[in-house]
This record gives sequence, structure tokens and C-alpha cells, in this order.
Amino acid sequence: MRSYFIAGNWKMHKTVSESVELAQDLGTKLAGCREKIMIAPAFTALDAVSKVLQGSNILLGAQNMGPEEQGAHTGEVSVLMLKDIGVRVVILGHSERRHSYLESDALINRKVRLALAHDIEVILCVGETLAEREAGMLESVIGTQLKGGLAGVNPEAFAKVTIAYEPVWAIGTGKTATPEDADAVHAYCRSVIAGLYGEAAAKGTIIQYGGSVKADNVAALMSEPNIDGALVGGASLKADTFVPIAQFR
Ligand code: 13P
Repeated sequence: MRSYFIAGNWKMHKTVSESVELAQDLGTKLAGCREKIMIAPAFTALDAVSKVLQGSNILLGAQNMGPEEQGAHTGEVSVLMLKDIGVRVVILGHSERRHSYLESDALINRKVRLALAHDIEVILCVGETLAEREAGMLESVIGTQLKGGLAGVNPEAFAKVTIAYEPVWAIGTGKTATPEDADAVHAYCRSVIAGLYGEAAAKGTIIQYGGSVKADNVAALMSEPNIDGALVGGASLKADTFVPIAQFR
């Protein structure tokens, strides 16, 4: 049976003690959960949360990383540092990084390749703005982000990549794509991946949906054939709202 990948992106929220408290709570409440689960706290809380998650079924994720292994890069966090403290997954190309910090596909691609070279799983985020959607550019935007983000990633490394489709207009707005609309974009992502890596790889790729996922819409989204998980923002900040999403079935 299909297993879903449910991930929580805590964004710029929570002190170390608040993060530890939530991670402990989730560790208890989601022990034995049938889905693949990840949480991505802020950098400052990663080490403490890593210790809490030792021996648990919840993977530790980071929300970003620098494009270089080490060196004079003020303000960046390296893949080596993340690996050292037990990070297993990194979210790259989130729309907040693309739009607020002007990250390009070329920069995101350097990060993707670096993470994979160090055996860290990648969640590569793609998504269109409302203006792009209304201008009929949805497929060209998503196609460019996928091809740019995955340039030079070989099929073996690609096996460690999850795609997250997050329409920018649905993030933190309470607006969700309808399950049918989201599924159509997921199907398009799969066709781009088939072009890059072949049908079998495309079939096996996990494609998460993100954007105002909540307990009351998750089951309908996950029932679509091309939706294999969720990348959850706001509703991942409390056990009361994240646990029912992770346990949607
Ligand atoms: P919300 O669930 O708050 O809309 O955020 C989605 C998101 O950006 C997850 O990465």
C-alpha cells in the first residue's frame, strides 16, 4: 500500500524550548504512524530537536542551507553542519526563499546537488503565483523550476528527491487549490519528471501538496492519484492541528 510523506515546515517560529516541547509531543503522539513524517524547525532548534527525535520515526528536516560546503559565507549554514547534527532532509526552493530572498533556479540547483552529494534527502518546492496562473504561465513556470532545480541530478541521486507543489497564492492564505486542480498540476510535474528520468522514476516520485493544508481538507487532497503527501506550514505548529493531518487515514 502507498505511504504518504507528511512534512511540517515550522518556518520562522518557536524558540528552542517551544520546539523541543512540540517535538516531544509529536514523538509520542505519532509513534507508529503509518506515514513518513518529517518536521523542520528553525536552525537554532535543530540540534535540540535532533536529540528529542533520536530513535523516533519522525525525520529531522532543515528549511534551507547554503550552496557551499564551507568557507567565508557570512550567515549561511552548511550541509556538513546539518548532517553533523542529524538532519536527514532539507527543504529547498521554497517560494518564500524564491520571492523574499530572490533565490534563482541556478542557486537552488547548486543546493540540491550539494545536499544529494551528502546523502541528504531534498524536498524541492515549486509553485506559481496567482499572476502567473492567470497569465496562463502555470506549466512554463513549474517546468522551468523543475528542470532548473534538477539540472545535473543523476537518476540515482534523484531517488532521494521529493517534489512539493505549493501554489504561492495558497500559502498561508486559507485558500487551497481544489484537489482536482492540485492533482492536474501534480500530473504535469510527473510528466516533466518522466521526460527527465523516465516513466518508472516519475511513477515512484513522491509529490507533496502544500498551501493551507488542514485536518479538514487533507483526506480529499490525498485521495487524488498524483498527490502523495503534504508540506504543512501553519497547521504544523501545534500537535492538535498536525497530528490529525499525519493521521488522516
Ligand atoms: P501553510 O500551510 O501555512 O499555507 O504553508 C504552506 C507552506 O508554505 C509549507 O511549506
